[in-house]
Amino acid sequence: MSQKISSPIEKIRLEGLEKSFGTKTVLTGVDLVLNKGESLVVIGGSGSGKSVLLKCILGLLKPTSGKIFIDGKDIFSLSNSEKEASISQIGMLFQGGALFDSLKVWENVAFGLRQRFGTPAKEARNIALEKLNAVGLSESVADLMPSELSGGMQKRVGLARAIATNPAILFFDEPTTGLDPIMRTVIDSLIVKCVKDLGAAAITITHDLTSAYHIADKIAMLYEGKIIWLGDSKGIEKSKNPYLNQFIHGSMEGPIPVNIKP
Ligand SMILES: Nc1ncnc2c1ncn2[C@@H]1O[C@H](COP(=O)(O)OP(=O)(O)OP(=O)(O)O)[C@@H](O)[C@H]1O
Ligand SMILES: [Mg+2]
Repeated sequence: MSQKISSPIEKIRLEGLEKSFGTKTVLTGVDLVLNKGESLVVIGGSGSGKSVLLKCILGLLKPTSGKIFIDGKDIFSLSNSEKEASISQIGMLFQGGALFDSLKVWENVAFGLRQRFGTPAKEARNIALEKLNAVGLSESVADLMPSELSGGMQKRVGLARAIATNPAILFFDEPTTGLDPIMRTVIDSLIVKCVKDLGAAAITITHDLTSAYHIADKIAMLYEGKIIWLGDSKGIEKSKNPYLNQFIHGSMEGPIPVNIKP
């Protein structure tokens, strides 16, 4: 099999990203590079700042300090419209789904197409149906309201919405939480396919290590506001990092304190 060797194309670069909320510091200096066609999984304890990290890149939260580059451009040095254009390449699945309650399922999926690209309704609906299909949902759900769907179905609608515009960058915040094991594999495969077919760059947050191994080229672990380990997903089991080892084995013994009261 011949392999094309080309230099990586950088999509996202974070330099010393810090984020505090009042006196609470969440990110204390995150450095990270994500290249085109690369799938990165971020792991870390609950409350370690994984979602905050993605929200900073999306412009939904303002970092306290540090730099964010998209396609080599420092987004804080851009005009509002240029910044919006950079960020609009990102398709995002939010942890809680974050569907619009008052829009039908297909309108949720087609939202970015209609809003950002002015895609005519009929065409946007057809794309929405195709994307719903890709996440294992049939046409029959298209005209339902989100509240009429199960939690797992809502999650998949969120996923269909994230990929609807064939974005160059994809963020998935816990895409398989709450899904049955088979659907989990379907979604993991879909993420792999998006990265391969679209040549997208993806960041996925997951607590599911089986998913992480399936999806990731690289895995990064966030702890105390920093990336304390980053490496090839295949190398994770061999790592000697005690924090990573404790985390991936779910052990109560190790350097990560377990904050539970008897
Ligand atoms: N808008 C906000 N205002 C104040 N604090 C916030 C805000 N968003 C997040 N935080 C705090 O930042 C910390 C990190 O939150 P974040 O949602 O990134 O965690 P997480 O790593 O995604 O956890 P989980 O795995 O449970 O989803 C938490 O302590 C949270 O309370
Ligand atoms: Mg989160």
